[in-house]
Amino acid sequence: MKTIFSGIQPSGTITLGNYIGALKQFVELQNEYNCYFCIVDQHAITVPQDRLELRKNIRSLAALYLAVGIDPNKTTLFVQSEVPAHAQAGWMMQCVSYIGELERMTQFKDKSSGKDAVSASLLTYPPLMAADILLYSTDLVPVGEDQKQHLELTRDLAERFNKKYNDIFTIPDVRIAEVGARIMSLQEPTKKMSKSDPNKKSFIALLDDPKQIEKKIKSSVTDSEGIVKFDKENKPGISNLLSIYSILDGKSIAEIEEMYHGKGYGEFKADLAEVVIKALAPIQEKYYQLVESNELDDILDKGSEKANLVATKMLKKMENAMGLGRKSK
Ligand code: AQP
Repeated sequence: MKTIFSGIQPSGTITLGNYIGALKQFVELQNEYNCYFCIVDQHAITVPQDRLELRKNIRSLAALYLAVGIDPNKTTLFVQSEVPAHAQAGWMMQCVSYIGELERMTQFKDKSSGKDAVSASLLTYPPLMAADILLYSTDLVPVGEDQKQHLELTRDLAERFNKKYNDIFTIPDVRIAEVGARIMSLQEPTKKMSKSDPNKKSFIALLDDPKQIEKKIKSSVTDSEGIVKFDKENKPGISNLLSIYSILDGKSIAEIEEMYHGKGYGEFKADLAEVVIKALAPIQEKYYQLVESNELDDILDKGSEKANLVATKMLKKMENAMGLGRKSK
């Protein structure tokens, strides 16, 4: 069986974007691959986090992984900081990274722009991400489109390490969802939907209640044309809503366009809200059963135990390749 690794930051309640671009794919892939799914809390602290909120988000994200259908008997679900090899290997991957290539990452540019003080870790986020992936000899990384550039860098770093030290890393491929790889903000539809966006109206969180979902969709930014038609360039708002509708309801975009021919945005938005509420209801029900349960702790304990075993083996190979420590491990 080939191996998959993917992570999500506990930097807020995950959004419809994270679900469609990442989690939904994970559920489909877990039957065919040996999967490692990680709650990347060390990545989350590259920007300021409230301590209590972060702890809550870690648990909440774990429960959401399970609520959307991740099966702990088929996959390894764990918290990044509970596997120390990630930070150790991340440091080694920093040592094979160049500042210039890290400064060219669009996520670094976006997240640092306009800030007076930017943490060094925001710049060195990609080598840590490379370590996350390479520790498990990952063959495939399913992510949303925004992470493609980081994945390309991971491949470069792995090849550089293999050439310079020892050929120990598998070079991972990236898998981007065919539809919905980039769900856009409801308020600025040319910007991707993000869970840490300070404007809460810009995203639908998986735990939003029906009233919030209705309100957010109703106030989403569209255009004044009044025609429900997919045209990403000229109608980014409506196109984004059409994508969400199509993915969650299973109808093609053309079918939905036909259904709303001659009808206004009001009716389309009201129906879309129903579609979203219906899709999220079973996830939310399962989530509330799990989030405070001991079962959740047991799953995460087992997950980090297994991840530690695998990651430590690769860490030793990395240390031997680079000559760290007094003797070969
Ligand atoms: N808008 C999106 N559309 C499709 N996929 C998306 N992903 C993120 N946003 C969208 C995918 O979700 C996975 C987890 O992402 P992450 O938490 O590791 O970080 P991110 O990509 O930076 O996601 P956010 O929501 O924007 O987080 P913040 O606000 O904390 O930076 C990844 O596979 C990502 O591609």
